[in-house]
Amino acid sequence: MTKKLFLLLVVAAFVFSAFGCAPQATPAPEPTAKPKLTYKDLTVGFIQTGSEGGWRAANTASFKETAEQLGVNLKFYDAQNKLENQISAFRNFISDKDVNVIVLAALETTGWDEVLQEAKDAGKVVVIEDRRIDASENLYATYIGSDFAEEGRKAADEMCKLLEGSEKKNVVELVGNVGSSAAKDRGQGFREKMEECGITVVKSQTANWDATEGKAVMEAWLKETKDIQGVFGQNDEMGMGAAQAIEEAGLKPGVDIKILTVDATAGAFKAMIAGQINTVVECNPLLAPQVYEAALKALNGESLPKWIPSQEGVFYAKDAETILPTRKY
Ligand code: AHR
Repeated sequence: MTKKLFLLLVVAAFVFSAFGCAPQATPAPEPTAKPKLTYKDLTVGFIQTGSEGGWRAANTASFKETAEQLGVNLKFYDAQNKLENQISAFRNFISDKDVNVIVLAALETTGWDEVLQEAKDAGKVVVIEDRRIDASENLYATYIGSDFAEEGRKAADEMCKLLEGSEKKNVVELVGNVGSSAAKDRGQGFREKMEECGITVVKSQTANWDATEGKAVMEAWLKETKDIQGVFGQNDEMGMGAAQAIEEAGLKPGVDIKILTVDATAGAFKAMIAGQINTVVECNPLLAPQVYEAALKALNGESLPKWIPSQEGVFYAKDAETILPTRKY
Protein backbone atom coordinates (compact mmCIF):
# COMPACT_ATOMS: atom_id res chain seq x y z
CA MET A 1 0.00 0.00 0.00
CA THR A 2 1.35 3.39 -0.97
CA LYS A 3 1.63 6.20 1.57
CA LYS A 4 -0.99 8.18 -0.42
CA LEU A 5 -3.53 5.30 -0.37
CA PHE A 6 -3.00 4.76 3.36
CA LEU A 7 -3.68 8.45 4.10
CA LEU A 8 -6.83 8.35 1.95
CA LEU A 9 -8.18 5.35 3.94
CA VAL A 10 -7.54 7.08 7.29
CA VAL A 11 -9.36 10.26 6.15
CA ALA A 12 -12.30 8.21 4.78
CA ALA A 13 -12.66 6.31 8.08
CA PHE A 14 -12.71 9.59 10.02
CA VAL A 15 -15.38 11.11 7.72
CA PHE A 16 -17.61 8.02 8.02
CA SER A 17 -17.50 7.94 11.80
CA ALA A 18 -17.78 11.74 12.28
CA PHE A 19 -20.82 12.19 10.02
CA GLY A 20 -22.70 9.12 11.00
CA CYS A 21 -22.27 7.21 7.79
CA ALA A 22 -20.98 4.21 9.73
CA PRO A 23 -23.68 1.62 10.53
CA GLN A 24 -25.25 2.37 13.96
CA ALA A 25 -27.53 0.42 16.33
CA THR A 26 -31.18 1.58 16.03
CA PRO A 27 -32.21 3.23 19.33
CA ALA A 28 -34.92 1.44 21.35
CA PRO A 29 -38.34 3.18 21.08
CA GLU A 30 -39.19 5.46 24.06
CA PRO A 31 -41.75 3.70 26.33
CA THR A 32 -45.05 5.61 26.09
CA ALA A 33 -45.90 6.91 29.59
CA LYS A 34 -49.30 5.68 30.86
CA PRO A 35 -51.55 8.73 31.40
CA LYS A 36 -52.06 9.44 35.12
CA LEU A 37 -55.56 8.86 36.47
CA THR A 38 -57.40 11.76 38.12
CA TYR A 39 -60.21 11.89 40.71
CA LYS A 40 -62.75 11.76 37.86
CA ASP A 41 -61.50 8.26 37.01
CA LEU A 42 -62.28 6.99 40.52
CA THR A 43 -65.40 4.93 41.15
CA VAL A 44 -65.43 4.17 44.84
CA GLY A 45 -67.60 1.54 46.51
CA PHE A 46 -67.79 2.62 50.15
CA ILE A 47 -69.01 0.09 52.73
CA GLN A 48 -70.06 2.05 55.81
CA THR A 49 -70.78 0.37 59.18
CA GLY A 50 -74.20 1.98 59.63
CA SER A 51 -75.57 5.21 61.03
CA GLU A 52 -75.17 4.71 64.77
CA GLY A 53 -74.52 8.31 65.87
CA GLY A 54 -73.07 11.77 65.33
CA TRP A 55 -69.54 10.53 64.59
CA ARG A 56 -70.76 8.15 61.92
CA ALA A 57 -73.01 10.81 60.35
CA ALA A 58 -70.01 13.14 60.06
CA ASN A 59 -67.89 10.36 58.55
CA THR A 60 -70.55 9.57 55.92
CA ALA A 61 -71.05 13.28 55.12
CA SER A 62 -67.29 13.67 54.67
CA PHE A 63 -67.30 10.93 51.99
CA LYS A 64 -70.35 12.26 50.15
CA GLU A 65 -69.33 15.94 50.19
CA THR A 66 -65.69 15.33 49.27
CA ALA A 67 -66.72 13.03 46.40
CA GLU A 68 -68.87 15.81 44.97
CA GLN A 69 -66.11 18.39 45.34
CA LEU A 70 -63.47 16.21 43.67
CA GLY A 71 -65.67 14.64 41.00
CA VAL A 72 -65.26 11.13 42.44
CA ASN A 73 -68.08 8.73 41.55
CA LEU A 74 -69.23 7.34 44.93
CA LYS A 75 -71.35 4.22 45.39
CA PHE A 76 -72.39 4.31 49.06
CA TYR A 77 -73.56 1.27 51.01
CA ASP A 78 -74.95 1.42 54.58
CA ALA A 79 -74.45 -2.03 56.18
CA GLN A 80 -76.82 -1.24 59.08
CA ASN A 81 -74.27 -2.56 61.53
CA LYS A 82 -74.52 -6.12 60.18
CA LEU A 83 -71.29 -7.93 59.32
CA GLU A 84 -72.99 -10.20 56.76
CA ASN A 85 -74.21 -7.11 54.90
CA GLN A 86 -70.66 -5.79 54.74
CA ILE A 87 -69.33 -9.06 53.31
CA SER A 88 -72.00 -9.30 50.60
CA ALA A 89 -71.56 -5.60 49.69
CA PHE A 90 -67.83 -6.25 49.37
CA ARG A 91 -68.51 -9.04 46.86
CA ASN A 92 -71.00 -6.88 44.94
CA PHE A 93 -68.40 -4.15 44.57
CA ILE A 94 -65.80 -6.71 43.45
CA SER A 95 -68.07 -7.86 40.62
CA ASP A 96 -69.09 -4.29 39.68
CA LYS A 97 -66.84 -3.54 36.71
CA ASP A 98 -67.12 0.25 37.22
CA VAL A 99 -65.75 0.12 40.77
CA ASN A 100 -61.97 0.42 40.89
CA VAL A 101 -61.65 1.28 44.61
CA ILE A 102 -63.34 -0.35 47.62
CA VAL A 103 -63.32 1.56 50.93
CA LEU A 104 -64.22 -0.35 54.08
CA ALA A 105 -65.14 0.81 57.60
CA ALA A 106 -65.06 -2.64 59.19
CA LEU A 107 -67.55 -3.64 61.88
CA GLU A 108 -65.26 -6.37 63.14
CA THR A 109 -61.46 -6.72 63.06
CA THR A 110 -61.50 -10.31 61.73
CA GLY A 111 -63.02 -12.24 58.84
CA TRP A 112 -61.73 -10.19 55.90
CA ASP A 113 -58.95 -12.31 54.33
CA GLU A 114 -61.14 -14.12 51.79
CA VAL A 115 -62.88 -11.08 50.31
CA LEU A 116 -59.66 -9.07 50.38
CA GLN A 117 -57.94 -11.80 48.35
CA GLU A 118 -60.88 -11.83 45.91
CA ALA A 119 -60.62 -8.05 45.53
CA LYS A 120 -56.87 -8.30 44.92
CA ASP A 121 -57.40 -11.00 42.27
CA ALA A 122 -59.98 -8.76 40.58
CA GLY A 123 -57.48 -5.87 40.51
CA LYS A 124 -59.41 -3.58 42.90
CA VAL A 125 -57.64 -1.13 45.18
CA VAL A 126 -58.83 -1.52 48.79
CA VAL A 127 -58.48 1.27 51.37
CA ILE A 128 -59.45 0.57 54.99
CA GLU A 129 -60.86 3.64 56.74
CA ASP A 130 -61.68 4.39 60.38
CA ARG A 131 -61.46 0.82 61.76
CA ARG A 132 -58.23 -1.18 61.80
CA ILE A 133 -58.51 -4.83 60.70
CA ASP A 134 -56.48 -7.98 61.42
CA ALA A 135 -55.47 -9.10 57.90
CA SER A 136 -52.30 -9.38 55.85
CA GLU A 137 -51.05 -5.92 54.83
CA ASN A 138 -50.45 -7.18 51.27
CA LEU A 139 -54.18 -7.38 50.76
CA TYR A 140 -54.96 -3.65 51.04
CA ALA A 141 -53.32 -0.39 49.97
CA THR A 142 -53.45 1.45 53.28
CA TYR A 143 -55.42 2.02 56.49
CA ILE A 144 -56.43 5.60 57.31
CA GLY A 145 -57.80 6.12 60.79
CA SER A 146 -57.25 6.89 64.43
CA ASP A 147 -54.89 5.38 66.96
CA PHE A 148 -57.67 3.98 69.14
CA ALA A 149 -55.27 2.61 71.74
CA GLU A 150 -53.77 6.08 72.12
CA GLU A 151 -57.30 7.48 72.56
CA GLY A 152 -57.76 4.95 75.39
CA ARG A 153 -54.47 5.97 76.99
CA LYS A 154 -55.42 9.65 76.76
CA ALA A 155 -58.81 8.79 78.29
CA ALA A 156 -57.11 7.12 81.27
CA ASP A 157 -54.75 10.09 81.77
CA GLU A 158 -57.70 12.46 81.70
CA MET A 159 -59.79 10.31 84.05
CA CYS A 160 -56.82 10.35 86.44
CA LYS A 161 -56.92 14.16 86.39
CA LEU A 162 -60.70 14.20 86.96
CA LEU A 163 -60.42 11.85 89.94
CA GLU A 164 -57.29 13.40 91.40
CA GLY A 165 -58.89 14.51 94.67
CA SER A 166 -61.09 11.45 94.98
CA GLU A 167 -60.27 8.84 97.57
CA LYS A 168 -62.01 6.11 95.54
CA LYS A 169 -61.54 5.72 91.79
CA ASN A 170 -64.23 3.25 90.72
CA VAL A 171 -64.86 3.67 87.00
CA VAL A 172 -67.50 2.03 84.81
CA GLU A 173 -66.86 1.54 81.11
CA LEU A 174 -69.48 1.68 78.36
CA VAL A 175 -68.06 -0.29 75.45
CA GLY A 176 -68.81 0.02 71.71
CA ASN A 177 -69.57 -3.02 69.54
CA VAL A 178 -67.27 -5.61 71.04
CA GLY A 179 -65.60 -6.99 67.90
CA SER A 180 -64.59 -3.57 66.58
CA SER A 181 -61.05 -2.23 66.69
CA ALA A 182 -62.34 1.03 68.18
CA ALA A 183 -63.81 -0.80 71.20
CA LYS A 184 -60.97 -3.30 71.65
CA ASP A 185 -58.13 -0.80 71.36
CA ARG A 186 -59.72 1.99 73.41
CA GLY A 187 -60.37 -0.54 76.20
CA GLN A 188 -56.82 -1.86 76.03
CA GLY A 189 -55.25 1.64 75.93
CA PHE A 190 -57.32 2.69 78.97
CA ARG A 191 -56.18 -0.34 80.95
CA GLU A 192 -52.53 0.29 80.05
CA LYS A 193 -52.61 3.65 81.85
CA MET A 194 -55.35 3.52 84.48
CA GLU A 195 -53.28 1.87 87.19
CA GLU A 196 -50.85 4.80 87.23
CA CYS A 197 -53.37 6.65 89.43
CA GLY A 198 -55.17 3.69 90.96
CA ILE A 199 -58.33 3.53 88.80
CA THR A 200 -60.32 0.29 88.95
CA VAL A 201 -62.76 -0.63 86.18
CA VAL A 202 -65.55 -2.03 88.33
CA LYS A 203 -68.00 -2.69 85.49
CA SER A 204 -67.64 -2.91 81.74
CA GLN A 205 -70.39 -3.71 79.25
CA THR A 206 -71.30 -3.03 75.65
CA ALA A 207 -73.94 -0.46 74.78
CA ASN A 208 -73.18 -0.68 71.03
CA TRP A 209 -72.28 3.02 70.63
CA ASP A 210 -75.91 3.89 71.38
CA ALA A 211 -77.34 6.53 73.79
CA THR A 212 -80.48 4.58 74.72
CA GLU A 213 -78.47 1.42 75.43
CA GLY A 214 -75.90 3.48 77.34
CA LYS A 215 -78.66 4.89 79.53
CA ALA A 216 -80.18 1.44 80.17
CA VAL A 217 -76.83 -0.11 81.15
CA MET A 218 -76.00 2.78 83.48
CA GLU A 219 -79.47 2.59 85.10
CA ALA A 220 -78.94 -1.09 85.84
CA TRP A 221 -75.50 -0.43 87.35
CA LEU A 222 -76.80 2.42 89.52
CA LYS A 223 -79.47 0.10 90.90
CA GLU A 224 -76.69 -2.22 92.06
CA THR A 225 -74.39 0.44 93.52
CA LYS A 226 -73.87 4.19 93.73
CA ASP A 227 -70.23 3.74 94.61
CA ILE A 228 -69.08 4.91 91.16
CA GLN A 229 -66.83 7.93 90.67
CA GLY A 230 -66.29 7.95 86.92
CA VAL A 231 -67.81 6.87 83.59
CA PHE A 232 -65.59 6.08 80.62
CA GLY A 233 -67.93 6.24 77.62
CA GLN A 234 -66.13 4.82 74.61
CA ASN A 235 -68.17 7.26 72.54
CA ASP A 236 -70.17 10.45 73.14
CA GLU A 237 -73.62 8.91 72.68
CA MET A 238 -73.15 6.25 75.37
CA GLY A 239 -71.70 8.86 77.76
CA MET A 240 -74.66 11.16 77.18
CA GLY A 241 -77.04 8.27 77.83
CA ALA A 242 -75.20 7.56 81.09
CA ALA A 243 -75.54 11.24 82.09
CA GLN A 244 -79.32 10.97 81.79
CA ALA A 245 -79.41 7.82 83.91
CA ILE A 246 -77.26 9.49 86.59
CA GLU A 247 -79.58 12.49 86.68
CA GLU A 248 -82.68 10.30 86.92
CA ALA A 249 -81.04 8.45 89.81
CA GLY A 250 -80.91 11.78 91.70
CA LEU A 251 -77.18 12.43 91.22
CA LYS A 252 -75.35 15.19 89.33
CA PRO A 253 -73.54 13.97 86.19
CA GLY A 254 -70.17 15.68 85.80
CA VAL A 255 -70.10 16.47 89.54
CA ASP A 256 -71.05 13.42 91.62
CA ILE A 257 -69.88 11.11 88.86
CA LYS A 258 -67.30 12.42 86.37
CA ILE A 259 -67.91 11.58 82.71
CA LEU A 260 -65.30 11.26 79.99
CA THR A 261 -66.18 10.30 76.41
CA VAL A 262 -64.51 9.81 73.02
CA ASP A 263 -65.41 11.42 69.63
CA ALA A 264 -65.94 15.19 70.27
CA THR A 265 -69.22 15.61 68.38
CA ALA A 266 -71.29 18.80 68.73
CA GLY A 267 -73.63 16.85 71.06
CA ALA A 268 -70.77 16.21 73.49
CA PHE A 269 -69.70 19.86 73.38
CA LYS A 270 -73.26 20.88 74.30
CA ALA A 271 -73.23 18.35 77.15
CA MET A 272 -69.91 19.83 78.34
CA ILE A 273 -71.44 23.33 78.25
CA ALA A 274 -74.38 21.97 80.30
CA GLY A 275 -71.84 20.61 82.81
CA GLN A 276 -72.79 16.95 82.27
CA ILE A 277 -69.66 15.74 80.52
CA ASN A 278 -66.25 16.79 81.87
CA THR A 279 -63.73 15.85 79.19
CA VAL A 280 -63.80 14.58 75.62
CA VAL A 281 -61.04 12.82 73.71
CA GLU A 282 -61.22 13.60 70.00
CA CYS A 283 -61.66 10.98 67.27
CA ASN A 284 -61.61 12.56 63.82
CA PRO A 285 -64.29 11.35 61.35
CA LEU A 286 -63.40 13.71 58.48
CA LEU A 287 -61.24 11.17 56.71
CA ALA A 288 -62.51 11.28 53.11
CA PRO A 289 -59.97 13.74 51.61
CA GLN A 290 -57.08 11.55 52.80
CA VAL A 291 -58.83 8.35 51.70
CA TYR A 292 -59.55 9.55 48.15
CA GLU A 293 -56.03 10.93 47.82
CA ALA A 294 -54.52 7.63 48.92
CA ALA A 295 -56.81 5.64 46.60
CA LEU A 296 -55.78 7.75 43.63
CA LYS A 297 -52.10 7.35 44.44
CA ALA A 298 -52.53 3.58 44.73
CA LEU A 299 -54.35 3.41 41.38
CA ASN A 300 -51.48 5.34 39.85
CA GLY A 301 -49.06 2.73 41.13
CA GLU A 302 -47.60 4.64 44.10
CA SER A 303 -46.88 2.63 47.21
CA LEU A 304 -48.27 3.96 50.47
CA PRO A 305 -47.51 3.58 54.19
CA LYS A 306 -49.70 0.83 55.62
CA TRP A 307 -51.17 3.17 58.24
CA ILE A 308 -51.85 6.90 57.97
CA PRO A 309 -52.95 7.95 61.50
CA SER A 310 -55.12 11.02 62.19
CA GLN A 311 -54.06 13.85 64.52
CA GLU A 312 -56.41 14.26 67.49
CA GLY A 313 -56.76 16.38 70.64
CA VAL A 314 -58.53 16.52 74.01
CA PHE A 315 -61.27 19.03 74.96
CA TYR A 316 -62.35 20.26 78.40
CA ALA A 317 -65.72 21.53 79.63
CA LYS A 318 -64.21 24.93 80.55
CA ASP A 319 -63.33 25.61 76.87
CA ALA A 320 -66.41 24.04 75.24
CA GLU A 321 -68.38 27.26 74.66
CA THR A 322 -65.47 28.93 72.82
CA ILE A 323 -64.55 25.90 70.77
CA LEU A 324 -68.03 24.63 69.74
CA PRO A 325 -68.57 27.25 66.95
CA THR A 326 -65.29 26.20 65.32
CA ARG A 327 -66.19 22.49 65.15
CA LYS A 328 -67.22 20.89 61.84
CA TYR A 329 -69.21 17.99 63.30
O1 AHR B 1 -64.80 3.93 64.84
C1 AHR B 1 -65.14 5.12 65.44
C2 AHR B 1 -66.30 4.90 66.35
O2 AHR B 1 -67.40 4.42 65.67
C3 AHR B 1 -66.80 6.14 67.05
O3 AHR B 1 -66.10 6.45 68.20
C4 AHR B 1 -68.20 5.74 67.36
O4 AHR B 1 -69.03 6.80 67.77
C5 AHR B 1 -68.53 5.20 66.03
O5 AHR B 1 -69.71 4.76 65.78
